Amino acid sequence: MLRRVGPFLRHFLLERNCSAGYSSYCSEAKMSRPVQARRLEGVDKNIWVEFVKLAATYSTVNLGQGFPDFPPPEFLKEAFSRAVSGEEEHMLHQYTRAFGHPPLVKILAQLFGKLLGRDLDPMTNVMVTVGAYQALFCCFQAFIDEGDEVIIIEPFFDCYEPMVKMAGGTPVYIPLRPKAPKEGKLMSSADWQLDPAELASKFSEQTKAIVLNSPNNPLGKVFSRGELELIADLCVKHDALCISDEVYEWLVYDGKQHIRIASLPGMWDRTVIIGSAGKTFSVTGWKVGWTVGPNRLLQHLRTVHQNSVYHCATAAQDAVAKGFQRELEHYGKPDSYFVQLPRELQQKRDQLVQSLVAVGMKPIIPEGTYFLVADISEFKSEVPDVPNSDEPYDSRFAKWMVKNKGLAAIPLSAFYCGAHKDNYNTFIRFCFAKEDATLKAADDILQRWKLEKTAP
Ligand SMILES: Cc1ncc(COP(=O)(O)O)c(C=O)c1O
Repeated sequence: MLRRVGPFLRHFLLERNCSAGYSSYCSEAKMSRPVQARRLEGVDKNIWVEFVKLAATYSTVNLGQGFPDFPPPEFLKEAFSRAVSGEEEHMLHQYTRAFGHPPLVKILAQLFGKLLGRDLDPMTNVMVTVGAYQALFCCFQAFIDEGDEVIIIEPFFDCYEPMVKMAGGTPVYIPLRPKAPKEGKLMSSADWQLDPAELASKFSEQTKAIVLNSPNNPLGKVFSRGELELIADLCVKHDALCISDEVYEWLVYDGKQHIRIASLPGMWDRTVIIGSAGKTFSVTGWKVGWTVGPNRLLQHLRTVHQNSVYHCATAAQDAVAKGFQRELEHYGKPDSYFVQLPRELQQKRDQLVQSLVAVGMKPIIPEGTYFLVADISEFKSEVPDVPNSDEPYDSRFAKWMVKNKGLAAIPLSAFYCGAHKDNYNTFIRFCFAKEDATLKAADDILQRWKLEKTAP
């Protein structure tokens, strides 16, 4: 509705009022028109800009942003080199199929068909995107209209909120609520749970979709079958979509299992699965992602993709296809990257847990992902709280830490909506997908910090 009113009002102001003699009003309207961006109101601020800059300026060790600083597997680098060297096929330098390079959609259909236990058509059940980010954007643009509500589980990957708003929708937030751990034990991401009655109360006539992110960034929570069934039952009951961001699907620890919500009864037809080669193969800079789902949903994603990005880099898609080919051949075997990477990351997680405990932080042990959230509430004597400040405590703490200790992390409040930031403001997020040398350097900082704290 508003989208239609805009041009009419502009026409009214610029044409009719001008001729009626309202020239100064008119020139103001003319001047302001180019800079109006109604759908961007309230989404133009982003803490990443500030924290990335702070890390670049002050940090010796950056455990803030979520990307590995170790190299991707050799087989993937070789596949990319072969794709760009043109030895095999110089057409890999040209456009390929807009909705996904055929070898990539075929192998994704084969793999996800196996994982979901259903036959998938590579051409209609899979679409390749510029990273999972663009897959998310396509979902919100395709399905969310003005007046639609989208349920977002907090803490959440921060772009969900602006993307829903940019599409004209209204985010409805539900927090994961932490349960106290057993005496003397560290908390686990599994201790952060949805309240079933509270979740049910968020669904309404206006609910178009829920965004599920399991394994979850930033907590590292891997939703259990029971939790997924709760969400699935509500989606079916209220005829809502599930936008299922599963970019960390292979990064699950301690023998936990990643369960795909699309495999639960009644869910395939209403779920879009989103994945990322960046997280799967440690190549976040390649920006190859995908969506998997029923054609009745993917047909609309194709329309958004066709009319926005249209096409993703061919050589990168070809290399990712070769990577999946290799992984399918080694599926479940000890030399599979999908087996080796989580094993290595679990060790890195445990190393960082020890370093943080040493300095007095209380890590929440993540069941999956690159991330670990730590409780910093014990630091208020060292980094005092400022009552009634507009800035959440964790944000000030993270800034203090990077400036004074050279260690960069991200405040957890960045992953909450404005109204809830102050409810969860004593945690910071670290990324442990880092070389052992980087984690050792972080440990050195934390050990020095510990000595300073205990020094007389
Ligand atoms: C939960 C989640 N979804 C999506 C993305 C975006 O993935 P990509 O780099 O493939 O666009 C990220 C990146 O950090 C993420 O953490």
